[in-house]
Amino acid sequence: MGSRMDVLLGAQWGDEGKGKVVDVMAPDYDVIARFQGGPNAGHTLIFEGKKHVLHTIPSGVFREGTVNLVGNGVVIDPVIFLKEVNALKAVGVDVRDNLLLSRRAHLILPTHRALDAASEAEKGSSKIGSTLKGIGPTYMDKTGRNGMRVGDLELPDRMDRFRSLTEKHERLLGMYDRAGATKEAEEEWLAAVDVLRSMRTVDSEHYLDQALRDGKRVLAEGAQGTLLDIDFGTYPFVTSSNTICAGACTGLGVAPNRIAKVVGIFKAYCTRVGSGPFPTELHDADGEHIRQVGREFGSTTGRPRRCGWLDLPALHYAVMINGITELAMMKADVLSGMDHLQVCIGYTINGEFTERMPYDITGPIEPVLKTVEGWNELRADDPLPGGLERYIELIESYVKVPITLVSLGPDRAETVLRQATMAN
Ligand code: GDP
Ligand code: IMO
Ligand code: MG
Repeated sequence: MGSRMDVLLGAQWGDEGKGKVVDVMAPDYDVIARFQGGPNAGHTLIFEGKKHVLHTIPSGVFREGTVNLVGNGVVIDPVIFLKEVNALKAVGVDVRDNLLLSRRAHLILPTHRALDAASEAEKGSSKIGSTLKGIGPTYMDKTGRNGMRVGDLELPDRMDRFRSLTEKHERLLGMYDRAGATKEAEEEWLAAVDVLRSMRTVDSEHYLDQALRDGKRVLAEGAQGTLLDIDFGTYPFVTSSNTICAGACTGLGVAPNRIAKVVGIFKAYCTRVGSGPFPTELHDADGEHIRQVGREFGSTTGRPRRCGWLDLPALHYAVMINGITELAMMKADVLSGMDHLQVCIGYTINGEFTERMPYDITGPIEPVLKTVEGWNELRADDPLPGGLERYIELIESYVKVPITLVSLGPDRAETVLRQATMAN
């Protein structure tokens, strides 16, 4: 008969708390599989008083007995990967036991990073605000059919392939007056590749097919979030991969009819790091309060995150695009103690009210905000306060999907599983 795969993904602009929820859910799964993105991601896990940030390696890596798979849709920087492996080793986790890499995953070269930086500098004030990890150029080489894959590292001509792609990049970098800038990084990269080559690689599509046939429970872990999706995000201020549920099919080689639950992760408010439109952004004391209390500074770059009220039309859009069957609401504790909150229930565009996410939110768009009561005194072992319950019910009635997990703090333990008050 076999089993089906669940998918967990971000329903906003990334950094929703995916890493925490994967870690909480991992004991219910045999395999955790990352399906897209690369080291632009920073997934934070906190337990037993320690914080861990993962970039490439799936967030099930701390759970014994869980296999962690880096899928074909992921792009891997061997240097960052090696740093992650070493950081895990330092806390007693040997990834050689439970980590598998897809042979079809593409590699980020030092010149990809240089091209990312050159392209952003060229854009000037209209820059994307990229994490500068080489993500865009690497996916460009993938779709341009020039890329280098993990499986290529097994081939005798791997160095020729590396040289030929690097030379091509050097010619492009010459156009930006940046040729020859990556010589030192190259040595570090080649040394890291040797470690990567010693890792266990698989054909992830066959591996997952067999795992599901054997009745294994598989959870696909997304990176970034729906509004950063290359097709459905706030283009061009997006990342270069499909962050949505469909990305789990292409990024792992699992057919759509094998997907069961789709868990969408969202914050009780909104954040965005990098440039691009953000209708509910706050530029006032409330925004600063949320940033400070929520420690809204990037896990990968340390940049301050832009903060704003929860945007329900955008969340509803994420539910639609992904087929989200249940939601996890994060960081309710951050809003605790505020008398009143606001929540966006629609937009006014050219004088017209709409609840629909438009083609372009860079234009003149006014969020229509509803004021709701706040809450106080949150404890994971107590019932949720009335104000928070009513906030949850408002969201559920708007997006028509149950909120089955509420997170009240960064630690694994600060999590409340909630009986759905509505059917999905
Ligand atoms: P991810 O990229 O989606 O995995 O999210 P990040 O790890 O980049 O950002 C989420 C941040 O919020 C991290 O610093 C987490 O430790 C923290 N966090 C997660 N859940 C909660 C929560 O419920 N409350 C608070 N205060 N912090 C949380
Ligand atoms: P996780 O998985 C938040 C943003 C960048 C920039 C845009 C493009 O931790 O949620 P890129 O480096 O991909 O070319 O950057 O996307 N971005 C993220 N924002 N969380 C992330 O990942 C992000 N990964 C990329 O800030 O605006
Ligand atoms: Mg993050």
